[in-house]
Amino acid sequence: MSRILVVYHSRSGHTEFVARQIAARCHADLEHIQDSRNLEGVPGYLRCALEAILGWRPPIERARHRPGDYDLVIVGTPVWFWSVASPVRTWVQRHHAALNNVALFCTCGGSGHAKVLDDLERLCGHPALARLALTERAVPQCQRDPALRRFLLELKRVPAVSVSLPPMQDQAPA
Ligand SMILES: Cc1cc2nc3c(=O)[nH]c(=O)nc-3n(C[C@H](O)[C@H](O)[C@H](O)COP(=O)(O)O)c2cc1C
Repeated sequence: MSRILVVYHSRSGHTEFVARQIAARCHADLEHIQDSRNLEGVPGYLRCALEAILGWRPPIERARHRPGDYDLVIVGTPVWFWSVASPVRTWVQRHHAALNNVALFCTCGGSGHAKVLDDLERLCGHPALARLALTERAVPQCQRDPALRRFLLELKRVPAVSVSLPPMQDQAPA
């Protein structure tokens, strides 16, 4: 069976929630990209905003998993001012050489997701095997979201990747 890593940054939990659902479905390891600084409150928000707009790459904590050890890496980011979250930018730049097969996802308030996934694809240097964008409102029910199901179905087509699909919307949960 393929080894899969789901790597993500999350400030308020939406992207983390989706990352955990995907990891559980793909039997993947999880890596939370941790910003080395405190990003809470208004000062933290402003810092995120500025870094996203200017394309800066802030310091992040040392990764626990090495992406080179995995057959597929799934990268998740929140949308920050129509941009990739700056800690994700740092992580991708740091591990760029080890990224071969990638799939991408993002969460957002409602805009900028297509541009962010395009930007992330460019940063990774490879077309994504699958892409997923979810609004923060859709996140709590994402297990039943057809977009997540489509994303997992695309991953299932990748040789040796094992994925457990969620039940169809009109199916009772197992
Ligand atoms: C600094 C900042 C900028 C944001 N910019 C956008 C944006 O341009 N478009 C959008 O739809 N949502 C935007 N959002 C909302 C987040 O993308 C959304 O709440 C996301 O689900 C947050 O993920 P998280 O809970 O994992 O941090 C922004 C949030 C923050 C903190």
